Parts: sequence; structure tokens; C-alpha cells
Amino acid sequence: MNIHTQAVHAGDRRQAPAAIPVTTPIYTASSFFYETTEELDRVFGHEQAGYCYSRYDTPTASALEELLTALEGGHGSLACASGMAAVEIAISTALMDRPSSVVAADALYGASTKLLLNLLEPRGVAVRFVDICDLDAVRAAVSEAKPGCILMETISNPLLRVGEIDKIAEIARAAGAALVVDNTFATPLIVRPLALGANFSVHSLTKYLAGHGDVLGGAVIADAPHFDALRTASRIVGPVLGPFESYLSMRGIKTFPLRMERQCANANRVASWLGASAKVERVHFPADPAHPDAAAIRRLFSGGLYGAMISFEIRDAGRPEIFRFLDRLRLVVRATSLGDVHSMALYPAMSSHRDLSPKHRQRAGIRDNLVRLSVGIEAVEDIVADLDQALA
Ligand SMILES: Cc1ncc(COP(=O)(O)O)c(C=O)c1O
Repeated sequence: MNIHTQAVHAGDRRQAPAAIPVTTPIYTASSFFYETTEELDRVFGHEQAGYCYSRYDTPTASALEELLTALEGGHGSLACASGMAAVEIAISTALMDRPSSVVAADALYGASTKLLLNLLEPRGVAVRFVDICDLDAVRAAVSEAKPGCILMETISNPLLRVGEIDKIAEIARAAGAALVVDNTFATPLIVRPLALGANFSVHSLTKYLAGHGDVLGGAVIADAPHFDALRTASRIVGPVLGPFESYLSMRGIKTFPLRMERQCANANRVASWLGASAKVERVHFPADPAHPDAAAIRRLFSGGLYGAMISFEIRDAGRPEIFRFLDRLRLVVRATSLGDVHSMALYPAMSSHRDLSPKHRQRAGIRDNLVRLSVGIEAVEDIVADLDQALA
């Protein structure tokens, strides 16, 4: 054949090697070829397992989804292009065939709050915020708002409050609502929301699961009654994770339990040190026996782990002093995101919660002297020494 034709076709669509690769390869093809049209027809019709088109699924993302389903104990998973894509499609799926009404925790990642207020409310979804740690308030909000969906985070961002997922799941079930839990901060090593009665567990894979600061991704892990609807919605809209990011996420997850254990142990030590510092007014950390949700934490958290996020308020500090503190950090990385192998510090009033009105920020308890710290896997004495010199 002509060289123009050869350049396009030669070497492609070979049989896969008979040996099974030990780890999952990156399949970049956007569509898949079958020897006969009969076979392709069966795959399109779901009568035969297989891949047609990469908006529906790809072998690399499917392998990651199988891994996520195992970690979270779900029926099935969807790997998404970002954590926010995951939050959005989980809520949309939860609201299918249910009232267009959401009861949401008043302490949520800023973009999740914006999703509710800026995208869903204008489309006619009623949104009501509630203190998710106050079960009476949740009951009252649910009985008044009659929601199709309740949205909460296992450990809230950035104040690290912990609601009782199992009891909220009962309230949701009795009201016919679906419960969506963003499990990004806790991870399935500490809490598995589906085992506690949630219908969807959501992740920013960008954070602890992928863990190396080199991939943006998200995931929804669903229970059996909701998984088909989730997959159907995803096949239409296509918020899916690409093969490169799926590969990186899978690679990262292999060491996620090891990293997480180390990060949690480091965070315990850093939180104790911060608590003893005269420069620090208040530390928010789930291991603190005086934490407002200590009873729920003792009941729901596994493995003696409390997460690796700490928020702390610097004494007599406002925005200029916080900026000076952040600028003096030498090891702890001054950047957005969290859950990476390296420690990171962030000013929520400038970043994740920047676009919220001061009133909403105030209601969420995010003061101008609050710093959020994601503790990494470094040697803990180096992390403490860096915080010490920057505070000084
Ligand atoms: C708790 C939580 N959920 C969701 C997200 C959104 O994730 P992504 O940035 O991957 O879209 C974030 C991001 O910081 C987060 O902290």
C-alpha cells in the first residue's frame, strides 16, 4: 500500500500479547476494534463484555475502578476527571427520580458549596445548609426540606468536624433521600461510608489516594441500587478520568495505606507540638480528646488513625501575619491541595473558601488566623522544625 496508508495503519490493531501484564498498561485508544461487526454489536448491546468508546470506559480506568470498589467496599465505581466532577455526578445521580432538593453540611469544601449555590440552585434545586454534627438540626432540616440528597464530608474542610454518618444515613433512608459522603480527608483506611449506610462515597483522587501531587482525579463509589444510574449518567456526560491519570492514580494507590499510616502518625506528633506552642491559639485535630465530635470519632474511625489534616489558629494573627508565616516556611510547601507525600500549608480564607461571602465563612467558623496543614511523610522532626522557625 501507499506510504500514506501504511503510516496510518501498519502495526496497529495487533492481538494483545498472550501473557497478562503484571500491572495495568495505559490504553490510550479512543475506540476499540472487533474482528466482526456481530461482536461489536453485542458489546454495544451489553450482551458481551468489552470496550467500544473511551467516554464509556477504558481498560485502564476500569482497572482503577475495580481497585476503588475494593478499597471502599462498594458495588461499583466511576473514576472521574476531578473530585468536583465526582461530587457533581454523585449529586445528579442521587437526585434522579427524587425531589430536587439538597440538605448539605454547612462546612464543605468551597467548590462544593459553590456547586450547590451557583450551579444547582439556579437550575431549581432547593439547597439548605445545616450543621451536620447536630443530629436534631439534621432531622429538622430533612423533615422541612424533604431532600432527595444529603451531602456531607466525613472530615469537614477545613475545620475537621465529624458527623455521624451511620445516624445521618438512617435519617436519609427514612426520608427516602440518598446520602453522598465526600470521604477525601478520611480515606477508606479510616472510614468506609458505604458500610455505614451511605449510598455514595466520593473522592478527590488528587489527594491521599493518588498522593504524589501529579494527577487531578476524582471517584464515586456507589452502592448496588445506584451504580447503574451512575454509570448511565457518566456514559452520557463523560466526566471520566483519562488513561494516563488512571494509571498514575493506580500507581499511587499501591502505597496509599503505607503513606497514610505514616502521615497520620506524623500529624499526631505535629498536632501535639502545635497544641503546646505559645504562638498557637487553637488546634483543630480529630485526635484531640476535647474535639467537639470526639465521641463520633471514637466510634467511627478505624485503626487508631485520625487523618493527617490539621487546622490551627495563630495567636494575635490576621491576614498579614499569616502571609508572613507562610512566606517563611522552607520545607512545608505553600500551595493549594492536600494529601501529598510532601507537607503543605494553605490559608483557607485566601483559597478554598475565598469566594464565600464573609458571612458564610464566618458561619463556617473559618477565622482570618486559620492555617490548614496537610502533613506529609517527611521525618516529623523536620516538619516541626520548619513550623517552629516560621512561627518564630
Ligand atoms: C474535600 C474535597 N472534596 C473535593 C475536592 C475537589 O477535588 P478536585 O480538586 O480534585 O476537583 C477537594 C479539593 O480540594 C476537597 O478538598
